[in-house]
Amino acid sequence: MGKQLKSLVLAGTAVSAGFYLWQQLQGHTEMDHTTFVKKYGPWAIVTGAAREEGLGYGFARQLAGHHINLVLVDIRADELEARAQELRERYHVNVKPVVLDLGRPDFLPQLTAVTDDLEIGLLVCNHMLLDESTPTILDMDLATHHAMIDVNARGYTTLVHTYGRKMVAQGHGGILLVSSQAGLHGTPYTGAYSANKAFQLMLGESLWYELRQSNVDVLVLTPGLTRTQGDNLDNYPPILLMDVEPVVRETLANLGRQHLVVPGPINKLIHFATTHLMSREKAIISTGDLMARGLSK
Ligand SMILES: NC(=O)c1ccc[n+]([C@@H]2O[C@H](COP(=O)([O-])OP(=O)(O)OC[C@H]3O[C@@H](n4cnc5c(N)ncnc54)[C@H](OP(=O)(O)O)[C@@H]3O)[C@@H](O)[C@H]2O)c1
Repeated sequence: MGKQLKSLVLAGTAVSAGFYLWQQLQGHTEMDHTTFVKKYGPWAIVTGAAREEGLGYGFARQLAGHHINLVLVDIRADELEARAQELRERYHVNVKPVVLDLGRPDFLPQLTAVTDDLEIGLLVCNHMLLDESTPTILDMDLATHHAMIDVNARGYTTLVHTYGRKMVAQGHGGILLVSSQAGLHGTPYTGAYSANKAFQLMLGESLWYELRQSNVDVLVLTPGLTRTQGDNLDNYPPILLMDVEPVVRETLANLGRQHLVVPGPINKLIHFATTHLMSREKAIISTGDLMARGLSK
């Protein structure tokens, strides 16, 4: 391991240890199942939950482990049905898979037809569309830009608005928006995605404030690189990659406690460095250089 990498690990561990101690001083303890279900159950919606390796399925697994029933939404029909069956068999919860294109302007009635009779205590907005060939902003065709806005911005807004209102009316609930470190500042070679993720972050943070007195908790998750995409991330330094389980665990543990989760020590350290130790311009340049390396540009 290089000297720089070692310092990064040490500093990251120190940040994490400090954060852990701070949480202990605040009296941070994990919520028990009964309290969790009372607040965020008996049903949760998780979007983008079809891929076995994905964060959405990770959320679904841990929520099922809390005995919460699930409405799983994704555009991938076969995989979604397979995930639903796995969860039913392993956790003995009710699971309703809903195959939907969340980029369509008229998707809502199809979803509410399934959820109208259910008490939805948690919404996890996790689905995303991106162009895997990672073109620059101007090289990406306009139709893809617009499709991404429909899925990543319009889709999130529709879900948050609809289920947020229901939760306020029922007097409890949680809304979790899965944004990204890419939403914290400009991220070259994935600029449209970065802009969509910034939209989700701002929507969630503002809503968090607006719902503070309502017993509806809002939390934005900004993961860094997470092992969900096979070998697509192989060119990045492995130390930057997190597994799905700890990302999901840290996020659910902070629901109702924070408005933003930057998961894991390394992501926390990078977040601290890019917001406190360097100018915004430098942060964008460093991120662009890292992306160029990771994407072999
Ligand atoms: N993995 C990372 O390194 C990372 C880092 C930061 C943030 N995140 C965020 O974490 C979340 C989950 O990412 P992931 O890596 O776990 O990805 P993932 O498993 O690919 O999850 C996204 C799911 O959304 C589906 N989807 C796409 N368009 C849709 C549409 N119009 N309607 C319904 N579903 C649609 C995708 O289907 P298709 O695959 O067929 O498009 C996919 O199944 C995303 O919001 C992502 O931005 C991930």
